[in-house]
Amino acid sequence: MVQARIMSIGSYVPDKVVTNFDLMKIVDTTDEWMTSMTGIKERHYCADDEAASDLAHRAAVKALESASVAPEDIEIIIVATATSDMAFPSTACLTQELLGAKNAMAFDVTAGCSGFICGLSVATNMIRAGRYKTILVIGSETLSKFSDFEDRNTCVLFGDGAGAVVVQASDDSEESRIISVHLKSDGSYADSLKLPAGGSRNPASLETVQKRMHYIYMDGQTTFKMAIRCMASISTQALEEQNMTVDQMKMLFPHQANWRIIEGLVKKLGTTMDKIIPSIQKYGNTSAASIPISLDEAQATGKIVKGDLILLTAFGAGYTWGSSIVRW
Ligand code: UT7
Repeated sequence: MVQARIMSIGSYVPDKVVTNFDLMKIVDTTDEWMTSMTGIKERHYCADDEAASDLAHRAAVKALESASVAPEDIEIIIVATATSDMAFPSTACLTQELLGAKNAMAFDVTAGCSGFICGLSVATNMIRAGRYKTILVIGSETLSKFSDFEDRNTCVLFGDGAGAVVVQASDDSEESRIISVHLKSDGSYADSLKLPAGGSRNPASLETVQKRMHYIYMDGQTTFKMAIRCMASISTQALEEQNMTVDQMKMLFPHQANWRIIEGLVKKLGTTMDKIIPSIQKYGNTSAASIPISLDEAQATGKIVKGDLILLTAFGAGYTWGSSIVRW
């Protein structure tokens, strides 16, 4: 059977670092609150002239170089983003042009913070179906551009960044593979985490601007509780279906939105925090980019090596959630 495996990874965060102390100058907040309630100490913000496709491009170049894959060899480009350059064309097409990936077909997936796992699922199944061999999956976000710096409940949480993986076909003899992907959503929670205006429901108008409807809105407490519950259940489902235990996983890569959510998840899964590589303190919540950024860091520091079993899980707007077991 054709298998899909992650050949390489690359990530990029913009240069500008915004610390908790920087934010204290513009919103009514404290370093103590942000650190104890979220685990975040700083985040990276893109420049005014940088958009999601620019970040995606930089992460993708690193992943392609690391796999020694030329842009012309990419067949599909999938960009997971909630903060696309514009409503259309897709950020994936804009990234395709920046990469010079002339032979690819490119499209976006919109699944909030679960977008990277969703993209990985699409890529895995396209490869397993036997039609494609080389797919680039990118999570790229510019959340700072959609953060309301008059709303302390949300603006302190988010950061910008991108991560990319080259997913390639391999045969059963190769140990590394994407073993499983599970996905789920519940649209009855659509209002709990959203960017209300700018689409066909509330097109841009003077009123939508005055009502600050072009910024992220979140019901934090509901999102917090559901994030733990849903990531725990879909991770457990993934492990049970493979007859695996959490102890067999070298590392866990949950979406990093709040350190307390990760603590709750780890407790529910009956494991320990040493299976987590913290990245939220440096980057904040980077939505669809958070898992590949953490994976890149884990590989660069030797925390995961070829052959290790790992579990990825994410939760985000929709609500959407997912999990994936990967043999690195
Ligand atoms: O990536 C997609 C998924 N996203 C998430 O998973 C995020 C989920 N939600 C959360 O992480 C948490 O809900 C937050 C960190 C956003 C908030 O934590 P919370 O425990 O739900 O706090 P809260 O909203 O109930 O607020 C507690 C207090 C409030 O003050 P009062 O009413 O008790 O006086 C807030 O006004 O904290 C206050 N507060 C702040 N204080 C200082 C809210 N934001 C801030 C702030 N600085 N930035």
